[in-house]
Amino acid sequence: MTQISTEGATTWQSPSNIAIVKYWGKRGLQLPENPSFSLTLSAAHTRTTAEYRIVPDKQKPQIDITLDGKEQPGFIPKIEQFFSRISDSYPFVRQLEISLRTHNSFPHSSGIASSASAMSALALIICEIAGVSGDLQEVSRVARLGSGSACRSVFPYGAVWGKANGFSGTKDTWAVGAGDRMHDVFKSMRDAILIVKSGEKSVSSSAGHGLMKHNPYAQTRYRLAGERMQVLSEVLHAGDLETFGAICEREALELHALMMCSDPPYLLVEPGTVAMIRKIQAFREDTGIQAYFTLDAGPNIHLLYPDQDKSEVREFIENDLLAYCENGQWIDDEVGTGPEKTDQR
Ligand code: PMV
Repeated sequence: MTQISTEGATTWQSPSNIAIVKYWGKRGLQLPENPSFSLTLSAAHTRTTAEYRIVPDKQKPQIDITLDGKEQPGFIPKIEQFFSRISDSYPFVRQLEISLRTHNSFPHSSGIASSASAMSALALIICEIAGVSGDLQEVSRVARLGSGSACRSVFPYGAVWGKANGFSGTKDTWAVGAGDRMHDVFKSMRDAILIVKSGEKSVSSSAGHGLMKHNPYAQTRYRLAGERMQVLSEVLHAGDLETFGAICEREALELHALMMCSDPPYLLVEPGTVAMIRKIQAFREDTGIQAYFTLDAGPNIHLLYPDQDKSEVREFIENDLLAYCENGQWIDDEVGTGPEKTDQR
């Protein structure tokens, strides 16, 4: 039996992640239509401090939340929905008085999705209160109920979510860590996040997942994603950067092609996104450096490259890519070791 802590304060820092094979389309309660694999990031993270108290005769949680010191009442419905989804397993969330102070390491409204880092940090807080934060499988299950991709952020280096051929023990209900089968070249990979456009996206990820229900290419997409996971399982182990990069770019373009084939169709890439993609492909051809792009559900580029090439790639970013970044903004990130409980507030 685990012991629930009835009152206290705790701080967790949890990273964002970048999917190589993308989760796009869901069913039931946050279950993925296809398996996905992501690299865990480091510099892009959320740090959340919670002060909490369980009040036994309460029926409904009482939540207040700030981001970088500013009250955010707009975030409360999403957290209430999350608490309601986990209340069967953790009934105490109905009786929680909780005050959350959150900070994102990346600029507010930079267009970097914070739901994976924010929801995994909150899942860790709830699991710590419940006395189960040492069980990463359970933390991942809880995080999934806050935001699908958040379930992959709790593991060092990389994670697989969804039943995938080639990865034993994988499930749709939680992610599993993939660090033990990743070659060092992937564990030390770098990710330059190049901000083409900041601010809210015109179509949110949840709306995008919803549109997959009637996308005519959905079934083909789910099959292809599954096949790519099987290839990836070999590639990760072998350190085969070229095949990894081909999958990475194919997945990014396919994700956006699916958006363009939705009903209604929509487009999230910007001219700067396309210009950078062309520059990256030309740089790779000219130099032989294995630098590859990927995209989330937005216009910003993630440029993935081996650590050994960082000085050449940095020069390339400064000379050829920053011109396409809004106010020259980019985040110099790398694969990281996962969440941390910290005293830093
Ligand atoms: O976790 P959500 O609902 O924000 O969806 C994330 C979807 C993608 O970022 C496009 C892909 C992924 O696997 O992270």
